[in-house]
Amino acid sequence: MTELEIRPVAGACGADVSGVDMSEDLGENVIGELRQALLDHQVLFFRDQEMTPEQHKDFGRRFGPLNIHPQYNNLEGHPEILPILKEPEDPLNIGGVWHSDLSNLETPPLGSVLYGIDIPPQGGDTMFANQYLAYETLSDGMKEMLDGLKAVNSSRTLTDDDSKAARNASRSTKLRDDITSADEITNLHPVVRTHPETGRKGLFVNKPFTIGLEGMTEAESEPILSFLFAHAARPEFTCRFRWEKGSVIFWDNRCLQHYALNDYPGHRRYVHRVTIEGERPQ
Ligand code: SIN
Repeated sequence: MTELEIRPVAGACGADVSGVDMSEDLGENVIGELRQALLDHQVLFFRDQEMTPEQHKDFGRRFGPLNIHPQYNNLEGHPEILPILKEPEDPLNIGGVWHSDLSNLETPPLGSVLYGIDIPPQGGDTMFANQYLAYETLSDGMKEMLDGLKAVNSSRTLTDDDSKAARNASRSTKLRDDITSADEITNLHPVVRTHPETGRKGLFVNKPFTIGLEGMTEAESEPILSFLFAHAARPEFTCRFRWEKGSVIFWDNRCLQHYALNDYPGHRRYVHRVTIEGERPQ
């Protein structure tokens, strides 16, 4: 039996994991160790994997049912896989802003498993920011103000007709033709959520999805949210992953934000994302 080796990569979050072949039917003990490592390090990095789309989905399903992205075109024949593609001539990428995935859903994802297929010779790294640390480093006064407050999370940047057209004009990963402003999905979630497995509190607001605070106008919410968005991504809360073909990242969307760097003009980057369903934030 292969031993898992888990080595932290930064002070804030992230660990390299070796000794796992994701194309295999992994035993319950290995899955249990990976689940615990995810809770301990928030994001896990794997190298030299070779997975078919079926094997990719099978790995994700060991941690929960899979999400089908409600707005993007998914991989043909595999609706549970989101193909994230940037062609050499595309000016913009997907995920090039600090965010947590789909925080506008009633039950935002537990996390995602991202698999590297075409990787640029340099650039295209993914960064992560630990939202437990973001919460814990706030002043007592700010924590008191935020605890119990809810935020409005909306799909506006993906579903607004104008915003959708602009996104599709500059990116190869396309939003679905049949999605319109009428398909906006909005949900209220706590600004500070308690992780359902670790019991730790973390900040749960992010720039593309969080548009306001409950009981306040958008103008009143804006300065508070702007402060929180900037604070959430302080360098000391982050780690950064350099991709290679066959690399895999498995992150916990409940306590991290992530950011896909767009610093590889003229090169192609292609990754597949499988996203695991989560529960309503508390
Ligand atoms: C994402 O935001 O899910 C994409 C991250 C990446 O492509 O590195």
